Amino acid sequence: MYRIVCVNCGAEYAPEEILYRCTRCDHLLCVEYDLDSIAIDRAAWMRRPLSVWRYRELLPVSGEPVSLQEGGTPLYHLKRIGEELGLPELYAKHEGMNPTGSFKDRGMTVGVSMAMQLGMKSVACASTGNTSASLAAYAAKGGIPAVVILPAGKVALGKVAQALMHGAKVIAIRDNFDKALEMVYSLCLSHGLYLLNSVNPYRLEGQKTIGLETIDQLGGVPDRMVLPVGNAGNISAVHKGLRELRHLGFIEDLPMMTGIQAAGSRPVVDAVEQNFPEVVPCADPETIATAIRIGAPVNAEKALAAIRQTGGTAASVTDEEILAMQRDLARKEGIGVEPASAASVAGVKKLAEAGVIDRSERIVCVVTGHLLKDPETVVKQCEPPIEIDATQESLLSVLYS
Ligand code: F0G
Repeated sequence: MYRIVCVNCGAEYAPEEILYRCTRCDHLLCVEYDLDSIAIDRAAWMRRPLSVWRYRELLPVSGEPVSLQEGGTPLYHLKRIGEELGLPELYAKHEGMNPTGSFKDRGMTVGVSMAMQLGMKSVACASTGNTSASLAAYAAKGGIPAVVILPAGKVALGKVAQALMHGAKVIAIRDNFDKALEMVYSLCLSHGLYLLNSVNPYRLEGQKTIGLETIDQLGGVPDRMVLPVGNAGNISAVHKGLRELRHLGFIEDLPMMTGIQAAGSRPVVDAVEQNFPEVVPCADPETIATAIRIGAPVNAEKALAAIRQTGGTAASVTDEEILAMQRDLARKEGIGVEPASAASVAGVKKLAEAGVIDRSERIVCVVTGHLLKDPETVVKQCEPPIEIDATQESLLSVLYS
């Protein structure tokens, strides 16, 4: 049992209404369950496989979901990086290990399932890349056509490759993500496609399971959860899921929700640092972490509430800091992530060095996408392979001379 509720004015809507914003005040919507009437046997929960669908009582899908077996991602102890930073309890939840290589799959299994449940005939999104890859794959699995709109020339190669190969209609506009979102939003309203950006409240329901899994894997609540922030949906979703767990009495405290943005694209950080009531969009976002190259985060209202209500914070990191941490994760921990994902750990490093993070904290960084998403940025940072004649002599000479 659930309703759709406006986060600002509390207006309520029936689940079957196709809505992305409150028709009264234009603010964001969220899914609200009657938590007091939901019976969950936590022991039975724990016996189910770790996955998005372990938590199905807290998800809106009623029938068989459109699933590619998403979730159940590893939680790694960052032993070496943690030692270097003086943080013995530093962890990374590797969302790059989802079916299409990012956390978006958690949202899309629920979002595309809801599209089917609501009888929609086609789906669409704007994307910096991962959302489009994921939507294309889940639409393929569901057997429903997908349209994706990308900022031309600003999407990592692996993500475009996925969207194309999974058969979405891929359109690249000569403008940025914020404009692409505006355009797809109008398209969905005028032509009845189902919008699966994170302004869709059902999609965030899937993504909240990152937090639920973390609690189950860690056997408790971390002091802090750190996420890279672009459109600000994921940090909002994780916070919502944990609030629900607290309401159910499964946990007592919430982690300090901490958002990390790139220095060239930091409207949420500005709002937190300067205590603005809302985000002031940044007109020209720029960063090597193209996944989070977003100037007008649509979920900012929810994200600011998540950060403020939990005593969390926000910080930005430079492209150099992001790339350095991408290399550290790869070389010191064996964890391959794309640049935006490394931002969360780079942010922890910065906050620990600035004394904002206490060294005794148990910290979970969400690393959101896989290394292979953006091979071009990798190749630019690394020495090329050493090419030699196919002789033992040449081999020994490059290795030992
Ligand atoms: N990390 C990665 C790898 C992402 O792809 C995104 C968002 C984020 C972090 C930020 O998450 O938007 O919920 O704050 N990517 C979107 C996309 C915008 O289109 O793929 P957020």
